Amino acid sequence: MAETTPVVEMRNIKKNFGGVQALRGVDLVLHKNEVLGLVGDNAAGKSTLMKVLSGAYIPDEGEIFIEGSKVNITSPMRARQLGIEMVYQDLALADNLDVTANVFLGRELLSRKFGPISVLDKHTMEQETKRLLDRLKIDIPSVRANVERLSGGQRQAIAIARATAFDTKVTIMDEPTAALSVAASGMVLDLVRELKAQGNSIIIISHRLEDIYEVSDRLIVLRQGRKVRECPVIGELDEFREQVVAYIIGARDDFAESRLGRS
Ligand SMILES: Nc1ncnc2c1ncn2[C@@H]1O[C@H](COP(=O)(O)OP(=O)(O)O)[C@@H](O)[C@H]1O
Ligand SMILES: [Mg+2]
Repeated sequence: MAETTPVVEMRNIKKNFGGVQALRGVDLVLHKNEVLGLVGDNAAGKSTLMKVLSGAYIPDEGEIFIEGSKVNITSPMRARQLGIEMVYQDLALADNLDVTANVFLGRELLSRKFGPISVLDKHTMEQETKRLLDRLKIDIPSVRANVERLSGGQRQAIAIARATAFDTKVTIMDEPTAALSVAASGMVLDLVRELKAQGNSIIIISHRLEDIYEVSDRLIVLRQGRKVRECPVIGELDEFREQVVAYIIGARDDFAESRLGRS
């Protein structure tokens, strides 16, 4: 029983922005140790749904359960306490800081105190960062390198490493490969596989269906704020892509019936 309780369950999530119905009653289940792909056209509601889960937006309606318990995710801090972290599309790394400082940004370790002054425990943070990058098989020349000097793939890897550093159960990635070359994307996808191998549960948003196909166990297609398709990722890539595109562009819709029942 406990094994089948989803790590995340979102029920009937609605979110409006003024007159825009960004989410019109979306259900989403993420199982433990699963990689779930979230796809859909621009403005389908993908980022909004994930911002609801990560505490950046409060939904107008709907319920969220984490490992079976109903929760109110009222802030990103609350989401973090629940083990949920989101890596944003426009990754927020501090360019002028080194790798270690970015990994620990906002949660620096303090060590000695000289009177009222705390000193950052740089050594421990560097060791922890090295351990983290090794564990995730991320290849960075030095944890003292300024992140602005690293490649796009390395930067994305650090943003993901940071998100997964602290007892993270659910890692959400919003278009992690959008700005990357094919080689750098491969590195990020390897990292997704590694996180899964280590027991993480992951939701990945991507408009590159090849990426979804490569790493996801299951996928959800959103269109105009509704779920129109939910299925395992199987078959040949061409066949997969053709079918998924039909849902993305609105030629097919598995939930049109239930929508009538619901609204
Ligand atoms: N903060 C916001 N204020 C106003 N409208 C928003 C906001 N965030 C998202 N939207 C609108 O909600 C809809 C869904 O957006 P979004 O979730 O970003 O879609 P996607 O990530 O699938 O491209 C769009 O019409 C978008 O313009
Ligand atoms: Mg988006």
